[in-house]
Amino acid sequence: MKSLLYSCQYIDGNDIDEVVKVLKSDWITQGPKIGEFEAALCEYTSAKYSVALSSGTAALHLSLLTLGIGKGDKIITSPITFSASANCALYVGARPLFVDIDDKTYHLDIEKLKSFLKVPSNRKGVKAIVSVHFMGTVADIAEMKKICDRYGISIVEDAAHALGAAYKFKDKWIKVGRCEDSKATIFSFHPIKQITTGEGGALLTNDKKIYKSALRLRHHGIVRSSKKPWSYDIPQVGFNYRITDFQCALGISQLKKIDKMINIRRRIVGYYNESLRKVEGIRLPYEREGTNASYHLYVIRMQRGRRDKLYSYLKENNISTQVNYIPLHLLSYYRNLLGYRRGDFLVSERYSAECLSLPLYVGLSRRDQSKVIKRVREFFQ
Ligand SMILES: Cc1ncc(COP(=O)(O)O)c(C=O)c1O
Repeated sequence: MKSLLYSCQYIDGNDIDEVVKVLKSDWITQGPKIGEFEAALCEYTSAKYSVALSSGTAALHLSLLTLGIGKGDKIITSPITFSASANCALYVGARPLFVDIDDKTYHLDIEKLKSFLKVPSNRKGVKAIVSVHFMGTVADIAEMKKICDRYGISIVEDAAHALGAAYKFKDKWIKVGRCEDSKATIFSFHPIKQITTGEGGALLTNDKKIYKSALRLRHHGIVRSSKKPWSYDIPQVGFNYRITDFQCALGISQLKKIDKMINIRRRIVGYYNESLRKVEGIRLPYEREGTNASYHLYVIRMQRGRRDKLYSYLKENNISTQVNYIPLHLLSYYRNLLGYRRGDFLVSERYSAECLSLPLYVGLSRRDQSKVIKRVREFFQ
């Protein structure tokens, strides 16, 4: 019997038609669909500029590079995130530091950040916070900015999980990605995200310098001469972080139905919440007041020790789940490089031992979701 997936892309006939059109055209890369996709992302988020890239990881890398972060500098992120949120610092020769998560939101704990930055030796060399909108719930970037402004620290929003998430800003609903309080926001278009381009990502910013620099770095650092059309220079080493036109065609087509897809995700989350609320031993995800999550993940928590058993029980019943994530400071590379130890970030460690992501994706039928709920309830009875 085929296992129920924990996540999966949603691709319809229109998406396929749009990709095929590009495949039959003269430009399958470096063509017009890239600018079109970038314009659509700007329109959707209200950010001024957007650079479409080959992955969310590339977008994080370019965010730090365009902010001028390099050797000897430091960034801060939370231990509960995908490795790319910290690796981007290592790519530019900087050092990632961690501050623990808040036990309710699972975002970087702002009070702990405040205490950490109060100590001059801690904040020495810290140039940016990579703040993760974990699960697609919205982190409090405005509050974070108040602290960061005191010390001249920039904010990069890692919104790999959060395209389409919204929050109230001056009594208006705005989308994550508008970069109201940050220098840049990154998205990922990996298949299990809110929209997909296969692999892909984007950097959004309101800063023209960051935008221009990211455009150059995406394509080897090449600067074209305005005098001779064939002439160019490379003033700074860049990369091949380009995305193809057929990927962008998929992205444009997906973006047209994103709100519908997020409503479906929220409906699935609503059904989980309603069905699991009264089950003793489960803690449900938390959504801050004045925010509207776009739910990349649905994470429940339970007593330490029960999680592994629930994972196995669901697997025996052909239901796939996932642990998002093992704290970064416990992975051997970070331990060895940065000297972190078990016990350094207790909230993250406890969370990680207690969390499980249940299946959540647009194509998850009510019938299949009911099966998941039935098995979870059975387990806790
Ligand atoms: C929080 C977070 N940041 C960054 C990334 C990197 O995105 P990509 O896989 O598109 O490189 C991911 C990927 O899942 C992620 O979960």
